[in-house]
Formats: sequence, structure tokens, C-alpha cells
Amino acid sequence: MITYLGTPTIETDRLILRKLKLSDAQSVFDNWLSDERVTDNLIRGAHKTVFETIERVTVIVGGYDSPEYCYWGIELKGSGELIGAIDFFNLNTTTENCDVGYALGYKWWNQGYGTEALRAVVEFGFERMNIHKISAAHNLDNPASGKVMRKIGMVQEGTIRHMIRNAKNQYKDCAVYGILQAEYMK
Ligand SMILES: CC(C)(COP(=O)(O)OP(=O)(O)OC[C@H]1O[C@@H](n2cnc3c(N)ncnc32)[C@H](O)[C@@H]1OP(=O)(O)O)[C@@H](O)C(=O)NCCC(=O)NCCS
Repeated sequence: MITYLGTPTIETDRLILRKLKLSDAQSVFDNWLSDERVTDNLIRGAHKTVFETIERVTVIVGGYDSPEYCYWGIELKGSGELIGAIDFFNLNTTTENCDVGYALGYKWWNQGYGTEALRAVVEFGFERMNIHKISAAHNLDNPASGKVMRKIGMVQEGTIRHMIRNAKNQYKDCAVYGILQAEYMK
């Protein structure tokens, strides 16, 4: 059975994964959600105004009322900057499987932060929440995300054509990846 623990703070070498607060909305907007270089790889488009981000962060903060809600802001220990977010979604009580999604601000790409954050939540998901399987998918034109998945031990299970349609009305083929709790624990 999944043990739902909400969104506790998780510390890694360089990062603090923590709940978002309403006061983070400006940083979320400035650092990644207003930037098409980031959102082009996501389903929802870039925010044009901080008010859209305030609405989004309000929904996230409301989610924390439920112990089943797992949505972390990614903060840099050194500077205290909020550089991205990572979450579990589609938590399924029948299969005990879930999906993971993540995004980082462009100026922090390629410094290992995505891998560090994903490794930390996957460890939390398997060791503390007893999740059975964690899956993720990335657009084929976003190979860096697949690299992050492979670096933490996920394996590619296939490719799904036109799996998503993004905010620019483009269909994207996606690579789907997964890791089983049993594989992780070995
Ligand atoms: C995907 C994302 C989170 C990666 O975060 P990150 O902190 O840059 O990742 P890391 O630095 O840990 O690792 C990135 C790896 O991809 C590699 N990489 C970067 N660009 C690449 C490219 N065009 N092709 C192949 N590999 C690439 C890097 O070299 C690095 O591998 P290495 O450590 O072996 O050198 C970040 O790019 C991002 O937020 N993108 C926009 C949102 C997004 O794509 N979210 C995921 C949706 S599935």
C-alpha cells in the first residue's frame, strides 16, 4: 500500500526540496514558468503574466491540504534561489504506480540539479512511500530529460506517437521511461 506522507522537505547535497508558498509565485514566474525555453518541453505554455503563476501556485498550495499531494519546489542551498519544481502525479491506488514531472529554470540547466532532484524524490517514493513503479515521459526533441531519467536508473519502455499536444498546438512523440521499486531496491 502507498504510504502517503504529503510533501515533506527533502535535503540533498546542493538542494532543498520543499513545499511551495504563495510568496514564491514571482520566482516561479521569473525563473521558469515565463520562459518558453522551459515550457516548450512541457504541456502547458509559458505564463504571460505573474497573475497566471499566482493562480497556479494557489492551486499547488491548496493541494498540500491532502497527504496524497507531492509537489516540491527546488531551492538551491547556497543562494536560497528557487530554481524549479518536481512532482509525483497520477498516483494510482490500484497499481500503486505514479508519474514524475520536473522543470528547472534555464540558467540552471546542465549542472546536475535535475538528476539530483529526481534521484532524491525517487528514493523518497520507493523507500518512504512504498510506490511500486515510477514513470516519466519526455518529448523526443528533449533528449536532456531522457538523459536525466537514465542517469537515475529508469529504462526506456517505448515511444508513443503524438502522446501530447502542447500549448503551441504541436503534437509530440514521447519516449516513456519507468523504474520499478524492486529494481531500485536491488
Ligand atoms: C530536463 C531538465 C530538468 C534537465 O535538468 P538538468 O539539471 O539540466 O539535468 P542534469 O544537468 O542533471 O543532466 C542533463 C544531462 O543531459 C545532457 N544533455 C543536455 N543537453 C542534451 C542534448 N541536447 N542531448 C543529449 N543530452 C543532453 C547533459 O549533458 C547532462 O548529461 P551528463 O550529466 O551526462 O553530461 C531541464 O533541462 C529542464 O527543466 N528542461 C525543461 C523542462 C523539461 O524538459 N522537463 C522535463 C519534461 S519530461
